[in-house]
Amino acid sequence: MLRMLMFGKPGAGKGTLSARLIDKYEVDFVSCGDLLRRHINERTPVGIEVEQTIARGDLVPDKATTRIVTEQLDQLGSKHWILDGFPRTQPQGVLLDSHLDKTGHPLSLVVELDVNDDIILKRISDRWIHPTSGRVYNTTYNKPLVPGKDDITGEPLVQRPDDNPEVFSRRLKNYYRSTHPLMAYFRQRQSDAFRIISLKGETSDEIWPELVDTLERWFPKVQKRSS
Ligand code: AP5
Ligand code: MG
Repeated sequence: MLRMLMFGKPGAGKGTLSARLIDKYEVDFVSCGDLLRRHINERTPVGIEVEQTIARGDLVPDKATTRIVTEQLDQLGSKHWILDGFPRTQPQGVLLDSHLDKTGHPLSLVVELDVNDDIILKRISDRWIHPTSGRVYNTTYNKPLVPGKDDITGEPLVQRPDDNPEVFSRRLKNYYRSTHPLMAYFRQRQSDAFRIISLKGETSDEIWPELVDTLERWFPKVQKRSS
């Protein structure tokens, strides 16, 4: 079964490429960042607690993220899924692994998106999102059909409060300090049942064919959606 972690720097294209995958294949999707933003929009106790931390570009506590993500994964049971933005610290990695081992559905793939920092910095000011679904647009690369509106619902698009140069550089620093070291943790556990691949490219269009090839070669049971 595909139980995949989409891993990479902020702005690497995790959300964009995951959306393409779930459009093409019968796969579910859980994004920790989207879940946290939903809590903020709905003014839940978790949302109120994490709002300032996210706006500063810092990581929110492991306990809160682990709970909201594992709750969602548990609902997916034995389906194929992609997880974006979790784990993001070594303790989260350990907590996730022990939770998934208990449920009998361990991670089977880590895809690391390797994109240079300068490319990412250029992209981020052009990003707009549909807050309810998490759909991502970009005013140069992936424009909405109608400017400022979501393609599916027609609702207004917004910019993320953490997508400004100062906060973004803090997110990138936090990635190098706390998140990137997780790759060493994953590599120790690599096996035929738990694969790791790093895909490098300047654009998601360069990475996309390699991603499709990886998925179809290693996970032939994943079905294409009927269009
Ligand atoms: P989260 O929402 O996960 O943000 P992130 O990891 O910083 O990643 P992004 O969503 O910014 O980037 P992405 O890789 O999805 O890129 P995208 O596809 O949008 O988390 C936000 C915050 O929540 C964190 O900072 C933290 O505070 C908190 N948080 C979340 N998870 C946590 C955890 N586990 N523990 C603790 N705290 C946590 O693409 C980026 C842009 O590039 C878009 O504009 C896109 O259109 C564009 N783009 C994509 N492909 C191309 C291309 N080929 N060419 C040009 N532009 C492109
Ligand atoms: Mg994202």
